[in-house]
This record gives sequence, C-alpha cells and structure tokens, in this order.
Amino acid sequence: MNANLKAPFPYFGGKSLVTETVWSAFGDVKNYVEPFAGSLAVLLARPTPVRGPETINDYSCHLVNAWRAIANAPEQLADACVAPVSEVNTEAQHYALVRDEDSLRDRLGDPHYFDIEKATWWIKGACEWIGGGWASGEGPWQWSREHGWQKKRNAGTGVNRQLPHLGNAGRGVNRQLPHLGDAGTGERQLRVEWLTGWFAALADRLSGIRMACGDWKRVTGPSVAYKHGTTAVFLDPPYDSTEYVYGKTINVSEDVREWCAESGANPKLRIILCGRGSEHDSLLDLGWRAEGWKTRKGYSKEGNASEKLWLSPACLDLSVTNHGDLFSTRKGAA
Ligand SMILES: C[S@@+](CC[C@H](N)C(=O)[O-])C[C@H]1O[C@@H](n2cnc3c(N)ncnc32)[C@H](O)[C@@H]1O
Repeated sequence: MNANLKAPFPYFGGKSLVTETVWSAFGDVKNYVEPFAGSLAVLLARPTPVRGPETINDYSCHLVNAWRAIANAPEQLADACVAPVSEVNTEAQHYALVRDEDSLRDRLGDPHYFDIEKATWWIKGACEWIGGGWASGEGPWQWSREHGWQKKRNAGTGVNRQLPHLGNAGRGVNRQLPHLGDAGTGERQLRVEWLTGWFAALADRLSGIRMACGDWKRVTGPSVAYKHGTTAVFLDPPYDSTEYVYGKTINVSEDVREWCAESGANPKLRIILCGRGSEHDSLLDLGWRAEGWKTRKGYSKEGNASEKLWLSPACLDLSVTNHGDLFSTRKGAA
C-alpha cells in the first residue's frame, strides 16, 4: 500500500480509513474508475504496481484544477503554496474562486488546462478554512450571485471573528515541520523543498491517470467502466441529506444506487458504494453485501447515521482476508 501518499489538503468525507478494506474487496483489477474523486484517498492507497487504465472524475472544478496543477507543475505549485496565512487574503481569494467557478469549469474542458494561481488559493484555503463550505460561497461572509457578499448572522464580529487555521498549527501544506535547521535560516526554502517532494511524489503517481471534471455519469458508461476487463468502481457520492456541505442542492446518491442496481450483476464489475445507515440496503436483495467500518470515533453502528460500504456480488470475499474490524450484513443474515 502507498500508506504515505496523501492529498495536501483536508477533505470532507475523505475515505482514508477504509482503503485497506476497499482494495481487499477489489483485488487486482485491470481497470479502475473513481467518479467522485475528492481527495483521492482510495486511488492513492492502491497497492502497487498498478496495471491498466485509471480514470477519476469530480464535479468540483477547483478540486480537479488543483489535482491537475499538482500533476503537471508540482515545483511551481509548491513554491506558490509557501506563503503566510492571511485571513484577509483567504477571504478575498475565496470570493475570487466562487466568482470564477463557471469560467474555470469551461476552461477545464481543455484537458491540458490548469490554473496555478487558483490551485494555490484553493489548496491553501482548504487548509486554512474553519468548518465546511470552502469554495462554496459559505463562511463568515457568504457570497451568492444574487446578493454578492453578506455577513452571516452568527459569524462573530471584530476580534471574535473566526480565524483561519494558522500556519504553525496548520494542516496540509501548512503542516508544522520538525525543526529543519538554524532558526530563521532558509526556513522558506526548506519548506518549499519539503512541499516539492510531496507534490512530485503525487505527480509521479498521477502521471498515467485520466482526470475528468463533470457529472459522475460521464465515466460510468461501458467504454470507461468495463470494456477494459475486470473493473473496480469506487462510488463515494455525497450521502443523502449532506448536499449542503457542497453549498448546492444536489441529490445524486439515489441515481448512483440505481446505476449500481443495474450494473451489479455484471461479473466484470467490482463496485463499492459508500453511504450511511440503510440508504442503499435495497441492493442487498440483489446479492450485494454491506460492511460497516471503523470510524475515528469507533465502530459505526447499524441502523442510524453510521457509514457503510455496499459491495457488489463480484467483489472478493472479505471473510477470507484479514478484516476483523468489519461487520457484514447480507440479506437473510441474522
Ligand atoms: C464524499 S466526497 C468524495 C470523497 C473521496 N472519496 C475522498 O476520499 O476524499 C464526494 C465528492 O463528490 C463530488 N460530487 C458531488 N456531486 C457530484 C456529481 N454529480 N458528479 C461527480 N462528482 C460529484 C464532490 O465534489 C466531492 O468531491
């Protein structure tokens, strides 16, 4: 496993805790598709060497732009990401990111296009932003096309305003480094070198993948999803009722479940669908099985808002691999 290869930003709903289970159930496949890529926790943890095509996709154009910049210009991006944390910059950049989202989406239609400055703002802001809603127009100040900037009612004012995550205690690209040299001497350069190494390792891993930006259905048709032989499809859509996290009203999990119900009988497809509680339990009638997984707060519990994986019939049997931290649900099981 590539246990150390991680995204350089925190991401809501990241699946880093479940990657071992996922790859045990997928096994050695000829083709991999991840339509809701996010922080790429699952792809980055794929056991190496990998074989065959890998296709990722996400609707968020800022996220895809960030991954493209990492994959194509790791050194330039690393240099740009080493900059002080400044609340006023973060908010101004947030504004510009939200304002320019549509034009960025259009320009990403060119597979060679990426914007280093926006990628820098997005990655740094994701590491500095408090709470959810990064690059969605949410935050202490809220932006919408109709009303422009408006202060949120409970955002606090003046010295009580929420501060961004600050550099030294920071996350992702702002993470605190072990002491690297004489105090104050060349600290910036050392940080740039550290970040360049991280981005270059990611660029190396991403060098052969196909990266799309759009709706998940663009990468789940036959030509992407199973004409290349045994294919693993990891589906991690926003869960039912979590659309607000992305600042938009979208409800894709139902559509995804329908696609799973139609596609799950294909013996070439090993599909894993993420969700909560019992939202996808109708798949159990079609021979799928559900696995609860251990969250940072302990075991998820059945029957409530716990997180689960639903595995299609062609997935490998986890009972023959070493996964004592899971519990399974099959149709008819006690
Ligand atoms: C729960 S997150 C995925 C997290 C990811 N598995 C990880 O480990 O970081 C869901 C992702 O779906 C994306 N998304 C939401 N609606 C989408 C759609 N209709 N098509 C493609 N991606 C979508 C969001 O931008 C978000 O990155």
